[in-house]
Amino acid sequence: MKGLIMSRKVLLVGDGAVGSTFANDLLQHVDLDELVICDVAKDRPVGDSMDLEDITPFVGETNIHPGEYSDAKDADIVVITAGVPRKPGETRLDLVNKNVNILKSIVKPVVDSGFKGVFVVSANPVDILTTLTQKLSGFPKNRVIGTGTSLDSARLRVELAKKLNVPVDKVNSMVLGEHGDTSFENFDESLVNDKPLRDYSEINDEVLSEIEADVRKKGGKIISNKGATFYGVAMMLTQIVKAVLTNQAICMPLSAPINGEYGIKHDLYLGTPTVINGEGISAVIETKLSEEETKKMLNSADKMQEVLDGVNL
Ligand code: LAC
Repeated sequence: MKGLIMSRKVLLVGDGAVGSTFANDLLQHVDLDELVICDVAKDRPVGDSMDLEDITPFVGETNIHPGEYSDAKDADIVVITAGVPRKPGETRLDLVNKNVNILKSIVKPVVDSGFKGVFVVSANPVDILTTLTQKLSGFPKNRVIGTGTSLDSARLRVELAKKLNVPVDKVNSMVLGEHGDTSFENFDESLVNDKPLRDYSEINDEVLSEIEADVRKKGGKIISNKGATFYGVAMMLTQIVKAVLTNQAICMPLSAPINGEYGIKHDLYLGTPTVINGEGISAVIETKLSEEETKKMLNSADKMQEVLDGVNL
């Protein structure tokens, strides 16, 4: 947003299934002046810009066009979805080396353009790539955000709502830590209809571990059925970008810069409740964890640091 006239511009890097779904969602949720779409496959953004402009008579005028990283110069947000996606059976961490190289080819030219906005990252492994986006860009940590465990948390809410037969918007529960195999649920603090989750007679430790396993496996299950997951993560990106562009603060579990929270000693991004607004990240919240959950958070952080130590920047 510049001067008195608000001009909202987003540059999307990566026009695959996640990127194009996000572009479609964003246009339907936010008044945007300009959407620039970049992809190494040059034809995709040409086709997607044409396809997406056909919805503008119904969702509002936006200048949608293919572009280059240099177009980030006056953008408010650069969204990075670009990367090799997971194949059936692969973990998010299997992608690290391929996607770090792709990330390097993006962040430098974006920064060289004079970009002064906020990076939002969803490419996997998201905690690693968000940490590296901040390092490669040298940006203040509040201006780099990762989708983190927002999607896992949405999946958890869906599962709990089904289990307890309540509307999903009455379920308040989060997944924290790595967006990946070491994630964990913050069940003790979960509320359903404003009542502690553990007070429900349907809930016991066995049920909760089943739910935890189902939530963790859901992404892989979607991939083995339809080849990719994109509606969920695209909606998480939309919520983040909307909060930043409209400067309306929201709190979500996101990949955020850790500065000693939970006793973590490493300098990295990890899933924790995060407040975002027009400035990017305005607060990283250290939520209440049980002893067991704290151990899981520390384990997630150690695992991420181990991967970061193996990355050649
Ligand atoms: C998933 C991918 C986005 O969990 O990591 O669906």
